[in-house]
Amino acid sequence: MFPQTRLRRLRRTPALRRLVRETLLSPSHLVMPLFAVPGSGVRQEIPSLPRNYHLSVDEIAVEGEALAESGIGGVLLFGIPEEKDEYATAAYDPEGVVPQAVRALKAAAPNLVVITDVCLCAYTSHGQCGVVQDGEIVNDATLDLLARTAVAHAQAGADIVAPSDMMDGRVQALRAALDEAGHSQVAIMSYAAKYASAFYGPFREAAGSSPSFGDRRSYQMDPANRREALREVEADLAEGADIVMVKPALPYLDVIAAVAQRWPVPVAAYCVSGEYAMVEAAAEKGWLDRRAVALEMLTAAKRAGADVIITYFAREAAGWIEEH
Ligand code: PBG
Repeated sequence: MFPQTRLRRLRRTPALRRLVRETLLSPSHLVMPLFAVPGSGVRQEIPSLPRNYHLSVDEIAVEGEALAESGIGGVLLFGIPEEKDEYATAAYDPEGVVPQAVRALKAAAPNLVVITDVCLCAYTSHGQCGVVQDGEIVNDATLDLLARTAVAHAQAGADIVAPSDMMDGRVQALRAALDEAGHSQVAIMSYAAKYASAFYGPFREAAGSSPSFGDRRSYQMDPANRREALREVEADLAEGADIVMVKPALPYLDVIAAVAQRWPVPVAAYCVSGEYAMVEAAAEKGWLDRRAVALEMLTAAKRAGADVIITYFAREAAGWIEEH
């Protein structure tokens, strides 16, 4: 009780604060999303995601080296194909842009963990994450295409595949297909609790993956639900997920905390494009301190229970943490 108890005592100097700090960010836990495009010599800034680039495979290799140097843990690869069709053929092409980028990254930066996003939305002409029949996104017919996509990524050397489609049973389908193809060592990071969020806007512009009709609410989760997220995580773990992700991060810290408290598995948080873009826009106006806000957001995700954080700040944040 005051005056004996004075919580400010341990806040008095930077050294004392450092001594009792509960949550530390480490570059090794950060993952940087990268966008691979066809061609060569392409390094084009993405308007909705300043300081992020569309990179051709040769430039991905250059980027991979720099990222490994920065000390971050890994990269999460997205592909933007030459051509889209109804069945997302380019997604499971073994010579597609993602398998090529995986090979280039593995050659350039062998110690960087390479994670690939497994979804169809950037590869379908309609922009939905699954096969469309009569205006509906069909679950079971989608599973085979996702599994083929994951196997193509594994074949190229991906360490982890990350299904982001939110179809039921996809983790089981991926695990079975990977094992059958001789890739039992490839891990699965499932986007387990992925919400139908308006925070994905800048990403969809970057990936050209906006749905041409409807929305994603028949497969991604309702932002109002927390208990349902636990069922999603439970199902994915039962099906063989090695890491479970909550996405977005900042508006869903309660979900991250609930998942982390309940299961002794690595939890990832995806600090999504809209979270990044908000900070960028406000900083540009001089309304927020970009670096301080970014580090606060990442620390909050960690404090809530995230082990791995996927963020468009990853490369810069690694530098900021080192300077700390
Ligand atoms: C693909 C996918 C999306 C994101 C990651 N994987 C878009 C979506 O579901 O619409 C969003 C990432 C971000 O906003 O940073 N399904």
